[in-house]
Amino acid sequence: MHKVSVLVGSLRKASINRTYAKALGRLGADLFELDYPDLDLPLYNEDLWADPPEGVLKLKASVEAADAVLFVTPEYNRTFTPAIKNAIDWGSRPVGQACWPDKPAAITGAAGGAIGTAVAQAALRSVVVGRGMVLMGQPEVLYQLLPDAIDAEGDFTSEKTRDFMRSFLEKFSAWIAKHG
Ligand code: FNR
Repeated sequence: MHKVSVLVGSLRKASINRTYAKALGRLGADLFELDYPDLDLPLYNEDLWADPPEGVLKLKASVEAADAVLFVTPEYNRTFTPAIKNAIDWGSRPVGQACWPDKPAAITGAAGGAIGTAVAQAALRSVVVGRGMVLMGQPEVLYQLLPDAIDAEGDFTSEKTRDFMRSFLEKFSAWIAKHG
């Protein structure tokens, strides 16, 4: 059982990425113990380290306690969201105390359109690798979340989707075992 910190790049309550991240969590409940730190943090400001925001400390504690990080991000204007960038920025400081280096990581994301999040994920990859995380490059999972794809309990309704997502989660579990 791997501990995974799941960073969801949308802050809104009805986020399809949060719904998707929770469905992944339910599907992989035997593989992962998941924590979803709140990314509704103040914009990075060096001055705030004098009295660090509680959310920042919780984010860093979540990642530090985790064996791996899973990024689940929407695409905003052909890149990943400011919530994700801001979390990465906070986690990369103070100098010498970054929480990212050597953490196994994977990226996915959901959008309404078929190729939604492809560009966001590509952009995020370079930042994640640049922070020293050990990124699983394959499979790339661009999830088109259609109405009724996730039921009221929070489970994927399609068997084909469940099988595909399960294989993604099993590969991530093996990646963590190998690189964690
Ligand atoms: C979007 N959306 C979007 N979608 C996409 O596929 N490519 C894009 O470049 C953008 N750009 C974009 C910018 C901004 C500011 C917003 C608010 C939205 C649509 C986006 O994928 C959609 O709103 C998702 O539902 C957002 O994810 P959550 O909040 O539902 O998880």
